[in-house]
Amino acid sequence: MAARRRESKWERAVRAAGPKGGLPVEKPDWVGRALPRAGILPPGEAERAIAAGRVRVAGRVVKEPLTLLRPEDEVRLDGRVVSLAAPTLVLAFHKPRGCVVSNRDELGRPTVFDLLAVALPPELSRYGWHALGRLDLDTTGLLLFSNDERLVAHATLPETHLPKRYLARVQGTPTDEKLEPLRRGLALDDGAARPAKAELRGAHEVALTLTEGRFHQVKRMLAAVGLPVKALHREAIGELVLDVPESGYRVLGEEEVARRLKFELGPREA
Ligand code: URA
Repeated sequence: MAARRRESKWERAVRAAGPKGGLPVEKPDWVGRALPRAGILPPGEAERAIAAGRVRVAGRVVKEPLTLLRPEDEVRLDGRVVSLAAPTLVLAFHKPRGCVVSNRDELGRPTVFDLLAVALPPELSRYGWHALGRLDLDTTGLLLFSNDERLVAHATLPETHLPKRYLARVQGTPTDEKLEPLRRGLALDDGAARPAKAELRGAHEVALTLTEGRFHQVKRMLAAVGLPVKALHREAIGELVLDVPESGYRVLGEEEVARRLKFELGPREA
């Protein structure tokens, strides 16, 4: 009997998420996503190049960014063959208060992608970046980006149990007694929260470590124990502690991604 291909972490996490996980285990790839992932063109430019007929897949001009790619397909831009073999890049970014984690904002507020575009040098601006999770408008701290969508699943699916540590300044005086329900696993209106690590940090500060990330979860958990959040900052993801100044970024090394974020880089189809 033929040996079964080893399932990647990404595939395992997606399968564990079940049908609601939404991401197919057999990963189709499409040209409008593959070009920015490989740093050939940034996302908007890739779409314009495709619409302008500058891209060929397996000898045919394609005008649709969602055109599916087979692994063996040759892709050309302006007649020249391009390699879609993408390195997996991960950026650690320090999000300031007052910007949204979204590609665009209906209210015209600045987005983290606007800030990233200013911070990145040309050799990194060519990539299409995905934010690995979200932070609220008023939350500051560590936000990861990657050109590789597998990292989005790894960083955001609760099944991967990647811990995120937040420092919250709260109204009122936190005590061990008040924090105890958070450590046991609190009932929230969208289901029970997993037991969290909750530590007293100062007269009005609590460090909370979660292995899941639901909408406003930290704020809701602390409000439920009578400690409304006045300011929130993400200090760490996995074993990666924020170490860049506000609005700054750094590129993580492969070894750090594996050791601190517990993500083994490998070929996309591995
Ligand atoms: N939990 C929150 O309430 N807000 C954030 O921005 C992140 C986690």
